[in-house]
Parts: sequence; C-alpha cells; structure tokens
Amino acid sequence: MQASAPSAECATSQPSVVALPAPIGAEVRGIDVAAGVSEAQAQFLRDAVSEHSVIVLRGQDISPDQQLKFAQLLGEPRASFYNRYGVAERPELTIVSNLKREDGEALGIADAGMLWHTDASYLKTPDMYTVLYGIEIPHKDGKPVGDTVFSSAWSAYDALPPDMKQRIDGLRAVHSFSAHLEKKRAKGQLKRAPLTEEQKNALPDVDHPVVRRHPVNGRKCLFVTEGHTSEIVGLPAQEGVQLLELLTKHMTKPEFHYRHSWRKGDLIVWDNCAVQHLAIFDYGDIPRRLHRAGIYGPVPV
Ligand SMILES: [Fe+2]
Repeated sequence: MQASAPSAECATSQPSVVALPAPIGAEVRGIDVAAGVSEAQAQFLRDAVSEHSVIVLRGQDISPDQQLKFAQLLGEPRASFYNRYGVAERPELTIVSNLKREDGEALGIADAGMLWHTDASYLKTPDMYTVLYGIEIPHKDGKPVGDTVFSSAWSAYDALPPDMKQRIDGLRAVHSFSAHLEKKRAKGQLKRAPLTEEQKNALPDVDHPVVRRHPVNGRKCLFVTEGHTSEIVGLPAQEGVQLLELLTKHMTKPEFHYRHSWRKGDLIVWDNCAVQHLAIFDYGDIPRRLHRAGIYGPVPV
C-alpha cells in the first residue's frame, strides 16, 4: 500500500476505533479529515480497515480535493472510465447520484450497486479500497434510506463446509462488465448511458481465483459475485452456473452482513477483497449524492 506524505497542517489527536455490532465494520473516531491526516493517523486507518474490512468516519466536511487527498493515503486512485460522471474539478472522483444536470442528463451513476459485487472485479487489477463520501442523504418518514449492505468474504469462506472448500480450491471464474450490464438490463435496473465502443474494447472479460488470499492479512476470501461473475473456467456451463448460484447465495447470507445507514458527512472506506456490497434502492427520486474514489489493488492470487 502506498502512503502519501502527511499534511503540513495535520491533526495530532489520537484516533480510536469502535467495532460495530456486526461481524465486520468499525467506526473510527478522532480524525477530522478537513484538518489534515497525519501519517500516524493514516497508518491507524490502514490497520483499522485491514482488521474490520469497513470503516466509518462520521461528521466529515470535506471538499473533493480533500477526499482525493484522503484516498491517496490508501494508494493510487483509479480514474473511472465513466468520465462523464466525474466530479468536474476532480475527475478521479465519480458521482453516485439520482440527480440531473441542468441539461437534463444524469449528474452521476444512478444504478450503482444494485447487484452484490466488489468494485472493479472486471479489471485485471480490481480496486483494493473504495472511499465513499455522503453529501446528500435521502430520508423517508424522518429516517435515512439508501443504505449500503456489506458482506464479509472471509467469513463466508470460513463458513463453507470442508468438501466445498476442497471443490473450489484452484478454480478460476470469469468477471465480465458486459455480462454485468446484461444482468442489470434483464432486471430492468439499467439507468446509465450505454458504453462506447472504445469503453467496450477497454473492458475485456478477465478471470480471477474463486478464492483469493487477502494481500495484507493473508485471509482467504470468496471472490465470486452476483453482479460480475459470469462463469467458472473449465466447468460445463450448467455445472458452473449451479456452483456460482450456490456460492453467491452463501456469500451474501445475513450473518456475514454489516448494514450501513448513511448520514450526511459519513466517509466510508471498505476493502474490496474482504467484502462485497449492495446498494438498497428504496428512495426513488428523493435526492441522493455521494462521491466515490476507487484505489488500485494488486492482481488477485
Ligand atoms: Fe460498488
């Protein structure tokens, strides 16, 4: 993991971590990102996300520049190929939103996360971390809606019976962005603009291990998703489909979940090897806006 230089105006407070009442997830307190993050605090954050898979910093008030600088503490941000949905002054940040621009076009990606997935698994080097910042959070009847649910990939792997672990050991699976869009289309979920030919050519299918080793803590994590995995390499199609259905259902069982209820000013970091996530679309046209940064990860092994 690369770390950027600490800010000259960095805060010096000692942060703390409070585990959430779930198998994964923790709140990190005592860091004001707008005031700058010291290298000691950055290491604290990296250790916390490695241990808890999802960390939440509440009550932040940051600019796109400050979010990007924070994301760089975890590695190199990946520029999204959906540059039409980038933040104007910081295209490394993608807008996730149901809002419209003045010309009537979508301001951001409006259909992100409707199927269980892990970010950018359709790339040879999927995102290691995602940094998502809540700017406008929808409410219904006084309560926040538009939750994000996370499911622990190492808990799911650990809970598999020994014969299944043996069966999937060494298998590889195909992750496909075009198959993902087709799944969304089939469910009537697709809201984004179609890919250009250039984007399609830049996104060939890739394959990854069905079980990958976490690059930091060495845990084994289940790495097939409802959203992006299309087949198991080398298995007859029907057998592969059945195995994928079984594994993706197991992967997303409630006992492996942390469900995040958003507040304005929440800054969340999650580990895309350790968790999969799902966006809950229960807010319709009530305005919602978040800014996302993805951080490059290694080739899964
Ligand atoms: Fe996502």
